[in-house]
Amino acid sequence: MWESMNIVRLDVVDSTNLYAKENLQTLPDRTVISAERQTSGRGRFDRTWVDLGDSNIFMSIVLKPSQNFDCIYTNITQYLSVVLCNVIEQYGITAEIKWPNDVLVGGKKIAGILSETVMQGSNFKGLVLGIGINLNSKISDLKTIKDKDATSLNIELSIESVNKEKFLNKLLEEFFKNYDEFLKKGFTLIRNEYLSRACFLNKEVSVMVFNNRKSGIAKDINASGELVLENDKKEFVLTMGDIL
Ligand code: BTN
Repeated sequence: MWESMNIVRLDVVDSTNLYAKENLQTLPDRTVISAERQTSGRGRFDRTWVDLGDSNIFMSIVLKPSQNFDCIYTNITQYLSVVLCNVIEQYGITAEIKWPNDVLVGGKKIAGILSETVMQGSNFKGLVLGIGINLNSKISDLKTIKDKDATSLNIELSIESVNKEKFLNKLLEEFFKNYDEFLKKGFTLIRNEYLSRACFLNKEVSVMVFNNRKSGIAKDINASGELVLENDKKEFVLTMGDIL
């Protein structure tokens, strides 16, 4: 199935997301861009995504679901985080989600997801859904990531290496299995699966929303995938941010 998909395999690229955005016009819906190495990988809030070698995953999926933007597209990162948890769990490992879409194993980040909406003027052109997965990394390299604790699937499995092609196959198969259904139902399709892996719920959290810090008890993830915080008996809803 991986071989029969629309896939662009690149040796080295600045960023698979950038490549997908630059070539969006000519790339068909559901094209997968996969690179062996990434020289300028980018993360959420303009952070960098470090390249820890070619046995890790750097990938973007071009999605052109319709002519018009629909707000459920903002939940595609949460859909992918659930898909990735399912795949990791096939390896016998428990995975968790830190709102909105970080995938963690044992409290350490194993993957990051970045979705970008491409517009031309006021016209919606598509989505670029990028994912970086630490599949086969060295502990010494992971320690160079300073902003958060990171891990890798091979390390969690205590094995030399995880087969990258097999992992990618499983991931893409899982992703496209319910993708059409997701486009119809949005976050409600995955809410229960998401909640069952949400490691922050009912805990006191601090969330950075650009330069603002919001604190409270993480009460819920509502039907739109937003974080419901409670502070001083008042509830407020966050649509984006980063749990510290
Ligand atoms: C994050 O956790 O902040 C998101 C990181 C997303 C990284 C991936 S790697 C493939 C794709 N290309 C990029 O430049 N970024 C995403």
